[in-house]
Amino acid sequence: MPTLSPRIQTIVIGADDGWGVQEKAREMERAGRDIILLTMGDHDFPTAEPIRDACCEALKAGRTSYGSIHGIQPLREIIAKRAGPVHGIEIDPDHVVVSMGGQAGLFAAAMACLDPGDEAIVIEPFYATYDQTIRAAGGVPIAVQTHPDDGFQPDVATLRAAITPRTRMILCNSPNNPSGAVYTRDTLEGIAELCRDHDLWLVSDEVYHSQVYEAPHLSPVSLPGMRERSFIIDSMSKSHAMTGWRSGWIICPDMTAADCIIDLFLTSAYGIAPFIQLAMRAALATGKGPEHEIAERYRYRRDRAVAALSRSTRLKIHPPQAAMYVLMDLRHFVTDAERFAYALLEATGVAVMPGDSFGTSTAGHIRISLTAPEETLVEACTHIAAFADTWSET
Ligand SMILES: Cc1ncc(COP(=O)(O)O)c(C=O)c1O
Repeated sequence: MPTLSPRIQTIVIGADDGWGVQEKAREMERAGRDIILLTMGDHDFPTAEPIRDACCEALKAGRTSYGSIHGIQPLREIIAKRAGPVHGIEIDPDHVVVSMGGQAGLFAAAMACLDPGDEAIVIEPFYATYDQTIRAAGGVPIAVQTHPDDGFQPDVATLRAAITPRTRMILCNSPNNPSGAVYTRDTLEGIAELCRDHDLWLVSDEVYHSQVYEAPHLSPVSLPGMRERSFIIDSMSKSHAMTGWRSGWIICPDMTAADCIIDLFLTSAYGIAPFIQLAMRAALATGKGPEHEIAERYRYRRDRAVAALSRSTRLKIHPPQAAMYVLMDLRHFVTDAERFAYALLEATGVAVMPGDSFGTSTAGHIRISLTAPEETLVEACTHIAAFADTWSET
């Protein structure tokens, strides 16, 4: 019997990939229990009707052949035009490669930057697939901690200390999932300096750039000397409620990098369906209205959720500056956040994500996604607050 490659078998290390609570919740739901699922960053509302209509029209018009692997020209043009001001740079449409969501963009960027055994710095807390994506590309993820008391801002000296001769890239996610932190200009300038000083790639995951609530978005790629050493990851999953469409893109530093990524996609997705690319284009052509509307909805939910959770005398809440999650610190009364999450689920039917799924910096935390209608969300937060206040480890 041939054996599977160690590379593919070690993408997820250990049995648990962090989704155990969600799986349990779904099992309970199938058994008839009422569940409020706040685990995944997936919207509780569908993609806007005009976008769905654009897809149906493209299907009716027979746009069902292979899609352009690079991405159709009119889509890349509108992405470049709209993304330029967001990231503070001029973007050549040819440097944009359309990808199967932000996730495929992350994988492609890791493949582009890393040779087997190369190290990639991932800043904690990080989106749950980051270390797996680096490993899938043959790299070695080096997690650098941040601290709840610093609002999860990375410390540049700590990042510098993690750099070795094998380091090739830094993966930076601001606005951040799960913390909702927005890295300050000082932090981003520090990261940019490290990349320049040590000749590193920056992979800048900016999928939450449209959901910033306190200050305008600042892309590290706009800083001096960064354009030519950066890949930007973006996606319409969160901004346009298009998670299932797998509609993202990578902005590459130059044509050589873009061509390499197109070659990689030639061997995998082989392009995004034309009817999806046409729907993406139609969505972007309507301007910023739809994404503002979604961002406003999450801002409102954030405020309602934080108010309901704040009734607890025990939960320490990190009010998010961005994105669609709220992270809570339980360390002063909970030793195992995963155990707490399972107990919360059993007692109240509310499913939350244990913080350990995002790295050690958020051990002893839980994260909720703001992905339930307002009243349901407030009900769930009220349950979480009451459960926390009566929780006993014995
Ligand atoms: C920080 C971050 N990057 C990338 C992604 C992947 O996005 P997509 O659904 O477009 O693949 C997510 C999804 O939750 C995310 O939170």
